[in-house]
Amino acid sequence: MKKINIDEELKYIEKVNEINKGKTLKYYILTMGCQLNENDSEKLSGMLEKMNYKKTLNMEEADLVLFNTCCVRENAEEKLFGKVGEVKKQKENKGTIIAIGGCMMQEEHIVNKLKQSYPYVDIIFGTHTLHKLPQDLYKALEENKKIRDIIDIDGEIIEGLPISRNDNIKASVTIMNGCNNFCSYCIVPYVRGRERSRNPKDIIEEVCSLAKEGYKEITLLGQNVNSYLRVEREKKIEFEEYEGVNSFATLLRAVNKIEGIEKVRFVSPHPKDFTDDVIEAIRDCEKVSKIVHLPLQSGSTNVLKVMNRKYTKEQYLNLVEKMKKMIPNIVFSTDIIVGFPGETEEDFEDTLDVVKKVHFEQVFMFIYSRRVGTPGDRMENQIPEEIKHKRFDRLKALVESQIKENNDKYIGTIQRVLVEGTSKTNEEMLTARTDTNKVVVFEGSKELIGNMVNLKIISEHMWYLKGELTH
Ligand code: SAH
Ligand code: SF4
Ligand code: F3S
Repeated sequence: MKKINIDEELKYIEKVNEINKGKTLKYYILTMGCQLNENDSEKLSGMLEKMNYKKTLNMEEADLVLFNTCCVRENAEEKLFGKVGEVKKQKENKGTIIAIGGCMMQEEHIVNKLKQSYPYVDIIFGTHTLHKLPQDLYKALEENKKIRDIIDIDGEIIEGLPISRNDNIKASVTIMNGCNNFCSYCIVPYVRGRERSRNPKDIIEEVCSLAKEGYKEITLLGQNVNSYLRVEREKKIEFEEYEGVNSFATLLRAVNKIEGIEKVRFVSPHPKDFTDDVIEAIRDCEKVSKIVHLPLQSGSTNVLKVMNRKYTKEQYLNLVEKMKKMIPNIVFSTDIIVGFPGETEEDFEDTLDVVKKVHFEQVFMFIYSRRVGTPGDRMENQIPEEIKHKRFDRLKALVESQIKENNDKYIGTIQRVLVEGTSKTNEEMLTARTDTNKVVVFEGSKELIGNMVNLKIISEHMWYLKGELTH
């Protein structure tokens, strides 16, 4: 495993801090992507805070504005260009530094557009140069340069960056980067590079220190978490086994043992990599959540084949059945794309059929979005927008009808939950999440925040449940 040496970057943190000493400076960060992107933002924030910037939620008062971008679907592009246009005035008035990073910056046509139409942007960096923000910022501040710091590299891991986390009960831990699957609709493998896993020791140590700081819930992150260390094993890339960890299943078992941690979640696994050892680990580890995210994408074997997902409708359903047999209280959430090129009415009905059969707790639904450079974009049989939208609405109606049925099953049950905070809409109420990720609102003292409690579920309200404290 090749770790990037960040000593030089740490020195740049000092240098920028020297320049910024004594000033009151604020940064604003907008995270546009997934949980991995969110975790990257926590690292960017960590570096900025070490360079004397304090976080603000108000873009207008910021001395440095940072957009951490996503490009998995189309709508993000409009949003980014809109925002970059918005800060132009602010830059002219008070010299605000504008930095843009993340997945979209690995797309050449986007960077070209920025260079042409938004030349005032100070720093552009990609997914492989996130750790160089201090150096890029130093050059922008000291040398008044426009920095374009994007590279294509593979197989390297960054450890030891400062981090400023968004929450003090729940924490995300990225366990692997990149993706080797090349699903034909997806841009991620092109912008995040090849799959590479972190060393077991670095992950375990990070979780242990989070537990010491009082964190209760850990989410292990990666584009394909259940192939953790697979590439390293196959290619005989050296890694240090630590506390018996040499696979995703053994990692789950090791994290489950860490004292102080109450709940362990993970996203996203790939159905094709759901080996028995992983299912057994979920079954055996009491802290590992019994809701499993199992991205379906399509219920049609034909579409799945063109998507390059490497499983059929039947294999997916068999996997669900097998997991239900091995873990009686297990439930599932999923991701579905409607309107992939060539999807027929019959194919779409197969998707509805799987949704009916599995009864997902949560379905993240997406309308297919063409991504430049992917095989899906080059296919000729694109589905008209109108049909895509109609199918989307039909899927949504089915999913919503199932949510109520699922919710009804909770009424009268006792759920052991982690109390997360006060309700956003009513300060007097507390919120918690069941093991299966359902929000429960209940009355209780604020001192319970961060603790596990038992709640009796008394009613359902579509997007949340109501409960009361019990023993
Ligand atoms: N690696 C994860 C998540 C990838 S992105 C996984 O494999 O599950 C999150 C979700 O976005 C995907 O699961 C997919 O449903 C959706 N998605 C990805 N590319 C898309 C595209 N081009 N159009 C619409 N949805 C897409
Ligand atoms: Fe994209 Fe497929 Fe990789 Fe997920 S597994 S990131 S959907 S290519
Ligand atoms: Fe988006 Fe990059 Fe995540 S494309 S979904 S931010 S990996």
